Amino acid sequence: MITFDGVTKRYPDGTVAVDELSLEAPTGEITVLVGPSGCGKTTSLRMINRMIDPSAGRILLDGADVTTVDPPTLRRGIGYVIQQAGLFPHRKIVDNVATVPYLLGWDRKKARSRAMDLLELVGLDPGLAGRYPFQLSGGQQQRVGVARALAADPPVLLMDEPFSAVDPIVRASLQDELLRLQAELNKTIVFVTHDIDEAVKLGDRVAVLRVGGRLAQLAAPAELLAEPADDFVREFLGRDRGIRRLSFIPADGLSLRTDLVVPVSADVSSVRGTAEAWLAVVDAEGGPLGWIAPKDLPDSGGTLAEVPAAPYGTFVRGRDSLRAALDATLLSPSGNALAVDGSGRVEGVVTREALGEALTRIAEDARG
Ligand SMILES: Nc1ncnc2c1ncn2[C@@H]1O[C@H](COP(=O)(O)OP(=O)(O)OP(=O)(O)O)[C@@H](O)[C@H]1O
Ligand SMILES: [Mg+2]
Repeated sequence: MITFDGVTKRYPDGTVAVDELSLEAPTGEITVLVGPSGCGKTTSLRMINRMIDPSAGRILLDGADVTTVDPPTLRRGIGYVIQQAGLFPHRKIVDNVATVPYLLGWDRKKARSRAMDLLELVGLDPGLAGRYPFQLSGGQQQRVGVARALAADPPVLLMDEPFSAVDPIVRASLQDELLRLQAELNKTIVFVTHDIDEAVKLGDRVAVLRVGGRLAQLAAPAELLAEPADDFVREFLGRDRGIRRLSFIPADGLSLRTDLVVPVSADVSSVRGTAEAWLAVVDAEGGPLGWIAPKDLPDSGGTLAEVPAAPYGTFVRGRDSLRAALDATLLSPSGNALAVDGSGRVEGVVTREALGEALTRIAEDARG
């Protein structure tokens, strides 16, 4: 656990970059520091590994004041990743990743083999190991930066806007990759960003800072979106706050109708008279095929296999959020969503009425 205890940083020119900051970054969790440019994020991060020392207050790492540990020893246990990776341009990728093991005096072979394992861990082709940084894309360089920070298996990882220099699609995949790695490695991560969407996606907890280095709010993402502490936080969270909040509300409470699901082997004549506007058709394994409107069915024999089905959207009820369920209804002309299990079998239909009721309950909760 990393503890900021009344930490202030005043630079020699009088700038107060961080002002009486107190917060905890729990072990094994991702704590995100987010806020506008100049609010003291980088300064806060660098005080953890003593690139900068506080003017007042203390930073504790597992209870020990970091200023009592000499910087090289301290940094052995703290990986550091920065924007644009900060790789050494004249060293090959493998040697960039092995930087810390070399410094720690590992033998060359062991250090390089560790580096190769790490390239694989962060999702890079080991064939890139012999290249120089300029021969890699921005996203690949960023992955090398993460691999390098993990080389000595430090329990703590500090990440300062690590993904902000890459395009949105690469950024999203790097974020997903970090979450996957974290599920495996359980590092104590302090992650700095000015992107609130990145903050709520990655953070177990999110600390919103305002300019002057003051903490505006510290909360889990769902709570932050539901209950911003003040106008500054509300404005910083930006538009679509209500919709984004749905990402954190599980869909497993939605009520299901199984009577609206019919097998493709059913006769057209057996469903033509149904009073329902839409029925979901499934194959022999229970997989979704699409929607049919009974009133539009042809007056002919045969099974539903001969009837064209309209497009559908699905969500996994036991795993996905209400946002995914809402998305699924918007992808179906029926306005209903198909709930599927982990293997893609249809469990039932969530009607737009059922979804509407769930959304109404959330809206009522928001009113307090
Ligand atoms: N060495 C320094 N001397 C004086 N002021 C500094 C110094 N380094 C940073 N500052 C000031 O401290 C404040 C916080 O800077 P910091 O780099 O921590 O912000 P940040 O939140 O990381 O911003 P950004 O999102 O732009 O990276 C800013 O006003 C900055 O100008
Ligand atoms: Mg910064």
